[in-house]
Amino acid sequence: MGVLETAPLSGRDDRPGAPLHVAIIMDGNGRWATARGLPRTEGHRRGADAVRRTVEAACRLRLGTLTLYAFSSDNWKRPADEVSTLMRLFRHYLRAETAGCVKNDIRLSIVGRRDRLPRAVRVAIAAAERATASCRRLTLRLAVDYSARTTILRAAALAKPAELDDPASFRACLARAQHDPAPVPDVDLLVRTGGEKRLSDFLLWECAYAELVFTDRMWPDFGEEDLERALADFHQRERRFGRVLSV
Ligand code: FPP
Repeated sequence: MGVLETAPLSGRDDRPGAPLHVAIIMDGNGRWATARGLPRTEGHRRGADAVRRTVEAACRLRLGTLTLYAFSSDNWKRPADEVSTLMRLFRHYLRAETAGCVKNDIRLSIVGRRDRLPRAVRVAIAAAERATASCRRLTLRLAVDYSARTTILRAAALAKPAELDDPASFRACLARAQHDPAPVPDVDLLVRTGGEKRLSDFLLWECAYAELVFTDRMWPDFGEEDLERALADFHQRERRFGRVLSV
């Protein structure tokens, strides 16, 4: 195998066997509910159950980082009752799952803006992050009031000149801009449920070399088998990172 070596591009960790970073755009809650004659908010409640199943599966499948898109900065434009249900679900999830995360060695980290979140959600975030800060088996990142473009702009504004020298140094600025305790590796696999094929302002920097998997499964129905299928698809791909692997 002829490999043309290049300098590392950014935060990717492409050593064989390195724990993977999987990111998921959890789409389809509303359609799942509407198809069953239920309010959209019921789709979000069932979506929270799918989050629990997926986190358990991520541990079993030995992922290193799992980033879930829970609320985009554009989601503030949704009806007020839907937004407040989502905020209640986040607060409830954080309170209910923190002890289980500590037990299972899962570090919780909420990425995105904090200043527009209800105080009770901010308090729950601080408690969950504090309690799980030393956990190492899996990093579970929930993106809440998140916009990749806003994060990149804020990171650039906060950067010291030397941090703008190369993509690897810029990762520290991104971490600061979105309340990550430390820089995270690039995304290896991005999954989007719900049948749409777009990125919706999610992890645009970190997904520079991500493999993309789109599934028609609505998020409330997502489970371990779906995650396994996406990973099997990922492992079939030849990741070249711009290089020529074989001639
Ligand atoms: C997109 O589906 C989903 C969201 C905007 C919210 C995601 C929230 C959850 C999965 C539940 C709670 C999460 C946690 C972390 C406890 P959509 O409503 O846009 O679906 P649609 O495209 O069918 O309308």
